[in-house]
This record gives sequence, structure tokens and C-alpha cells, in this order.
Amino acid sequence: MRLTDNPVFARLHDHHKSLRGLRFDDVKDNSARQQALSLSLDDLAIDLSRHLIQPETLDLLAELADAADLSGQFEALFAGEVMNVTEQRPVLHMSARTAEALSGDEPRKMAIFSDVLRGDKSIKDIVNIGIGGSDLGPAMVTKALAPFHDGPKIHFVSNVDPSHLYDVLKNATPERTQFIVTSKTFTTQETMKNAALARAWLTKAGCSADRHFAAVTAAPEKAEEWGVERDRIFGFADGIGGRYSLWSAVGLPIMVAVGTKRFYELLKGAHDMDNHVRSTPARDNLAIMMAGLRIYYRNIENRSAYGIMAYDQRLSDFTRWAQQTEMESNGKSVDRKGKRLDYFTSPIIWGEAGTGAQHSFFQALHQEADICPLDILAPLQPVPDYRDESFQQSHKMLLINALAQAEAFAQGQVNDKEPHRHFEGGRPTSFISWRATTPYALGRLLALYEHITIASGFLWDVNSFDQFGVELGKSMAHALSSVNEADDMPEQFSAAAKAFIKRLPKDAL
Ligand code: F6P
Repeated sequence: MRLTDNPVFARLHDHHKSLRGLRFDDVKDNSARQQALSLSLDDLAIDLSRHLIQPETLDLLAELADAADLSGQFEALFAGEVMNVTEQRPVLHMSARTAEALSGDEPRKMAIFSDVLRGDKSIKDIVNIGIGGSDLGPAMVTKALAPFHDGPKIHFVSNVDPSHLYDVLKNATPERTQFIVTSKTFTTQETMKNAALARAWLTKAGCSADRHFAAVTAAPEKAEEWGVERDRIFGFADGIGGRYSLWSAVGLPIMVAVGTKRFYELLKGAHDMDNHVRSTPARDNLAIMMAGLRIYYRNIENRSAYGIMAYDQRLSDFTRWAQQTEMESNGKSVDRKGKRLDYFTSPIIWGEAGTGAQHSFFQALHQEADICPLDILAPLQPVPDYRDESFQQSHKMLLINALAQAEAFAQGQVNDKEPHRHFEGGRPTSFISWRATTPYALGRLLALYEHITIASGFLWDVNSFDQFGVELGKSMAHALSSVNEADDMPEQFSAAAKAFIKRLPKDAL
């Protein structure tokens, strides 16, 4: 059902009008309201009371979800029905994080290989070569779980800009370096180019590439053709989309970094979130309520951006991961039947880790006329890898800053005499906290954001599992790759493209 055909959508508009006079000051001391606008799952707590909404707003969002049969749609998703309609595939990443899946051949082979790499003292550096979903998820999780890292050093190279690979390799020794080429399709231009550079680097140093490469892919025959040995190729199902794939063999670098036990804890956290989303009525369902708010801001308030600010330095790549998850999934203009939509879908997802962000763009978030809703994420405690009291105190300062920002956004501060010091307030934030960023808690958090994406996609009636929007640029790059001079340009390219090619130095072509 399209959002505008959902009978509750019009009521949500009316409800929004009825909230126009609501000021945060009027409700800020109301603890019954605060509780009614709070959601939780064990130690994961989401406080929505700094939004200018009322408990009835969430009730209506739950009705919106029920009218769109979100529970039925989630059931179909979990049951493995074909939800990716354009590519005629089921969506299988949730099944990769079940206990049963871990006893499968491929995960077992992956765990054995991971142990071999971890135990091999001759290996100093592991370089994952991949891009998009074959990079962002594993890189973000590896960074987030730094305190649990007891394997070899892992690097992530994604950009075809040669400096990305070069800067990693300049400090590495060929004999002691292992590459994992991660690519679902094993055709992605950037990844294949970087993999070829890496192979040339090894060969030049007299190393046989065979024992230095492993591959993670849903196209094992292509990896074999490229030259990776069969026993070093780790597969995953076609139904696991790139941006949802860190739970599968794509998580190999994570497993090498933190070991199988912790990798499984990550999966368990995600699996518990799956169960929550699958079995919890909409009004108490973390993902559905957060998705409802995405729709509320995008389609009722017409907000084009949504910020995610993690107050956890090790989660500094979280927003980049969530950005791909949400924008590549829901940045669409047609519904699941291919009909043009008459409303906007994914907001621009952006953000940075706090507190750095406070000393940068938070100025605009506090005082610019346009409002950007935010998620503020904060673990209550650091992972206990530093027990030193002074380090603990710094963590307290971090949390206090997260809280202070949420309060300042919501409350504002009137200053009629000095307009440049006036803070309007009423700037909405969801305050999301959990005990500590353990593998389990991280898995649960990531699965939450995946399900927010999927639930919003259901509400917008878009296919959250394809990404045809990336194709045109890829094919233009392909058409340009054989151009040697401006006069060779295929006709489809503009005068601006020709002018740029003319500016290139001869040795760049
Ligand atoms: O170009 C977009 C995309 O297809 C993403 O969806 C995907 O995560 C990324 O490229 C990498 O693709 P692959 O894993 O096939 O190399």
C-alpha cells in the first residue's frame, strides 16, 4: 500500500496540525509523557520525549503501520518470500544470523579459515579490498569493536583512488600480507582494479599470489577464474544484499579481528533484534516506531535530512554505514509495482561522532531556521578496556555532552535582546542509549537500523532491496574508460565532459 493510500496518513496530517502549539517547555516536566514516549529492549533504551509529539502520535504511527500490515510484511520477509520484486529474490540476511546458519558448511569453513589467519604469526596485515556493502559494514564493525581486537591488523581499502591502497601497502611487507577480496558480484570495477594492483604488488616482490588471496563472493566461479584457490573462496547467498551482508562471509575480516566467539555474539544481538521486530506489536516495536518517525518528518513535516550522531568515537563510521543502508535501500521514486510515487522517500542520512560534531556543524542545527531531526546515540559505559579512573571520567564528560546537546536542542533559550544568542528550541532528537558497545549490543543496534530501513520502505511501498540508481554512473564510467582523447568521446557525453578530458595531462589518459 502506498503511503498516501494509507487511511491513517490523512489522520496523521490532522494530528500534526493539532500539535502546532506544542512547546517543549510545556511538557518537559511531564514524566508520564516521557515514559509513554520511551521504548526499550533490555538495556537498549530509546527516549522519544524530546520530539514535539504526544503519546497519541506514536499510537497513530502504530495504526499507520498496522494499516500497511507491517507485521504481515515482516512475516513474509522472515519467511523468505520474494520481497525483492525487481530482482525476484527473497531477502536472506536475517537467516545468516541464526544459530542454525552457523552450523552450515560455509560458516564453518569461514571460522576455520579465520582461526588459521589469526594463528599464523607470519601474517602481519590483512587487507580487505571491497566497496559499498563489501566495505562499510565490516570496516565499521571492526573499528567499533577495537577493544575486542586480538587478531592481526585489518585494513580496509575501497576507493579506486590508488592512494587508498598505496598508503596501506607502503607500510606492509608482501610476504606478511594477506588480502581478502570481498565482492558480491566479483565484477565491481573499483574492487577488481585494486585486487589487480595488490596482485601485481605481490608478484613484483616475488610472492606467489595464490596463498595471499582469499575471496568472499556470491559468484565463486568468477573468483576462481580470477585466480583465487577454491578452498579460499567463501560464498554467501544471492538473497543477501551487499549493504545487509556483514553477517555473512562478508564479516570474515571482523571474525579475524575479534575471533569467532565474539562474531557470533554480534550475530546473536542482531538475531534478538530480529525476534523483537518480528514479534512485538507496532506500538512497542523499536524499529516500527523509529520508522514511523522517519515518515512523520519526511512526509508530514517535509524534512529532507536526518542526522545520526554517535557519542562513541569507535562508532564514528556508524553513520556512513547507516547512510548506505537507508539511502541505497529507500532512495527511490517508484513503488513496488513500478508506479511513480507522489511523495518523497529516504531523507539524506548524515552525521558525525560527538563531541567533534558539536564544534563544527552543530551551530547550524541549533540556530538555522530549517530543522533537522537527529538520533543521538550513547553507550552508558565504555567497554571496560580502560579501568583507569581518569579515563572513566572522560567518558562521563562524553555522556554529559550528549545529554546537554539533546536538552539544548529541545529547550532552546529565549534571548529577545540579542537575537544572535537566541535559541528557538523544539529541535527533535531521539536519545538512544545502551549499556556498553559489546559485540552483542552492536549487533542489536545494527539490526535495529536495518529494520528501521526496511519498515520505512514498507510504509513508503518501495523495494528496499534493489539499487538500480547506481547503474547509470557505472555504465558511463565504463563507456569513458576506453577514451584516450577528447575527440574519442562517445556522442552521449556533453561538452563539459569533453572539456574536462581535454584538461587531463597526457599521462593521465
Ligand atoms: O554500486 C553499488 C553496489 O552494488 C552496492 O550495492 C554494493 O554494496 C557495492 O556496490 C559493492 O558491490 P560488490 O559487493 O558486488 O562488489
